[in-house]
Amino acid sequence: MASEEHTGTAEESIELPTPVSEEDDVEVTHPGTDGHDHDESEPEELDAETRARRDAALAQVRKLGDPALRATALPVERFDEELAAEVRRMGELMGDALGIGLAATQLGVLHRVLVYKAYVDDPVTALVNPQLEWASDELEAAMEGCLSLPGVHVEVERPARVRVRARDESGAELELEAEGLEARVIQHEIDHLDGTLILDRVSREQRKEAMRAMREANLEGHPQAAGDGA
Ligand code: NI
Repeated sequence: MASEEHTGTAEESIELPTPVSEEDDVEVTHPGTDGHDHDESEPEELDAETRARRDAALAQVRKLGDPALRATALPVERFDEELAAEVRRMGELMGDALGIGLAATQLGVLHRVLVYKAYVDDPVTALVNPQLEWASDELEAAMEGCLSLPGVHVEVERPARVRVRARDESGAELELEAEGLEARVIQHEIDHLDGTLILDRVSREQRKEAMRAMREANLEGHPQAAGDGA
C-alpha cells in the first residue's frame, strides 16, 4: 500500500468514484438479429436469501464502463490489519456473489490484490502482488464469466499451467503452481489488476456477441450467472 498514512483518507485516495457515464468502451452492435433468446447459463434457482446476498454483493462490484476496471493496480507495500480486512471483505463478497475469483480493482481499489476459490472445498486464497513467473506453452480454451460483465460468457484461451510468486495478506512469500480452473482464475484475476478484461482476449465477433448477452442480462434482471463469475 504505497505511501499510505493512517489518516483515514488513504483508502479513498486510491478508490475511484463510480463513473457517471456507463459502458464507454462498449461497442455499438445490433441486438436481436440472431434470434438469441435464452442464456443457458442463467442462474439456477437460488433461494431468496442467497439471491439477496448475491445481489447485494454484485452491487458493490464495478461493471464494464467503470474506469477502475481499466486501471493498473499498484503494488501493496504495507501488510497491516487494513490489508487483512480488505482481503477478508473481498473473500466474503466473492462468496456472497457466488464468484470464484475477485480482484481489488473490481471493487474500485487499485491494489494488486486478488482472492480466489476455484473449487468448492478449497479455502479462499489471497494473492498480494502476484507475479506470473512461468506459463506453459500448452494452451487451453474454456468458458469464462466475470462478475464485472453480467451475462457474458466467452471462450478464452490461456496457458494451461502457471507458476506464480506472490505474498499472502500477512506478507509471507508464496510460490504456487496451478493448472486447470485454478490456473485460469489466477490468470483472469491478474488480468484485472492490469486493466485487462476477458473481452480483450476474444475475437471481435465473440466480443459483439458478449455485449449482446450483457445487454440482455441487464434487461432481464439476471445480473450474473451463478457460480462461475470472477
Ligand atoms: Ni472478472
